[in-house]
Amino acid sequence: MNLAEKLNQYSREYWDFQDYRKEAPLVRYPAIMVAPMQECILREVINADRSIKNVLDPFVGSGTVLVEGQKLGLDVVGIDINPLAIMLTQVQLEGVPEDKIDRHNAELFARIVMLNGNVEHLNFTNVKKWFTDDVIASLSVIRQAIMGECDSRIRRFYWCCFAETVKKYSNTRTSTFKLHIKDEEHIASQIDDSIDFFKNHVIDQSKRYARADTCLSKHFLDCGDSKDILKEISSCSVDLICTSPPYGDNHTTVTYGQYSILPLLWIDPRDVDLWNPNILETFTAIDSLSLGGRVKRGDSKNYSKYVADISENKRKKITSFFEDYEAVFSQLARVLKPGKPMILTLGNRRVDNHEVVFDKFNDELAAKYGLEVDSTITRNIIGKRMPGKVSNLKDVGSVSSISTEYIKIYRKAK
Ligand SMILES: C[S@@+](CC[C@H](N)C(=O)[O-])C[C@H]1O[C@@H](n2cnc3c(N)ncnc32)[C@H](O)[C@@H]1O
Repeated sequence: MNLAEKLNQYSREYWDFQDYRKEAPLVRYPAIMVAPMQECILREVINADRSIKNVLDPFVGSGTVLVEGQKLGLDVVGIDINPLAIMLTQVQLEGVPEDKIDRHNAELFARIVMLNGNVEHLNFTNVKKWFTDDVIASLSVIRQAIMGECDSRIRRFYWCCFAETVKKYSNTRTSTFKLHIKDEEHIASQIDDSIDFFKNHVIDQSKRYARADTCLSKHFLDCGDSKDILKEISSCSVDLICTSPPYGDNHTTVTYGQYSILPLLWIDPRDVDLWNPNILETFTAIDSLSLGGRVKRGDSKNYSKYVADISENKRKKITSFFEDYEAVFSQLARVLKPGKPMILTLGNRRVDNHEVVFDKFNDELAAKYGLEVDSTITRNIIGKRMPGKVSNLKDVGSVSSISTEYIKIYRKAK
């Protein structure tokens, strides 16, 4: 039975994963994929081709594909422009040493008690806008206590628990991935129990990620722009590509960078891969460096059929994104071995109330760069962590966000 036939054995409803409820994640990164779905697809792909030994994800995000790939025994390679995504993925792939973690946690908690009230408060631009004085004091204590951890693998784990704490106790609204300040009344009513939350999160997540050192698999992660990093990978060297790419530029779709900037400002810079020295300079720097983040002057004719009905300003943004995306796609097609699959989980967003058919665009790129469509799965996104309606546009009112997802499986010609 070939892969398409195997995948066809599952019902259409199966792919909705209606009953899937994710446990509290280590860090609540935006747009986390449905892990059991990726596991199922990867398993079927590997069962259909036993020579697949490695998987590449050029947009790792929270690391779902690589974590599932690792469980299935693959060597994993990942890239992301966002240092928080890379740190989160690394921690999930490496876990924490089960023979040491309880002792290190006890020492961390003791340092917190000792340091409480005795540390200088961290300061960065607008820190008092995004955090209350009480929270700044507590987070400064936790930060200093983490910096006292000598084992870098455990320290990275603590930084992830800290990142979740920073997000939860910041003055930003949870209803959006962008940085929007809560109203004053809401801020004034907040209780600072961030130290307790952090300690509980460390204990819960330690249970989840504790593992023996012997379990460490081969993995390679690189922080930076996939457009550049992929050029360093040899042609025809990758057995499998599996990813969920951004569906549009970060500024107007999901602001992964803005979402991550406050934790990144709190984490000790020596422990973060700040691949670009300007990455923390502004709240929007990561999103500007991401695909389509910089609007190019031209209005490429190659993409005109996808943007014909869209206003000029937005058209430029979409074509800039398409241009950057094509640069990555062509590299992916180059590094993939002939006959091997590329799996993309993607969606079509709406701009000016017109659907941008990103799935069709991917089909066109596949044909252009020597890949054939193997199979497509269409699924409903249930319980998505995004507002049902986004961007209240002047002339068209609010626009529905994505509720259907496509899993496109392409195969490179032999
Ligand atoms: C849709 S998310 C991936 C979600 C992921 N599959 C998960 O389950 O969490 C897309 C990711 O692409 C990253 N990204 C955007 N532009 C990039 C670029 N030029 N190079 C590398 N990563 C980029 C973003 O930082 C984001 O983490």
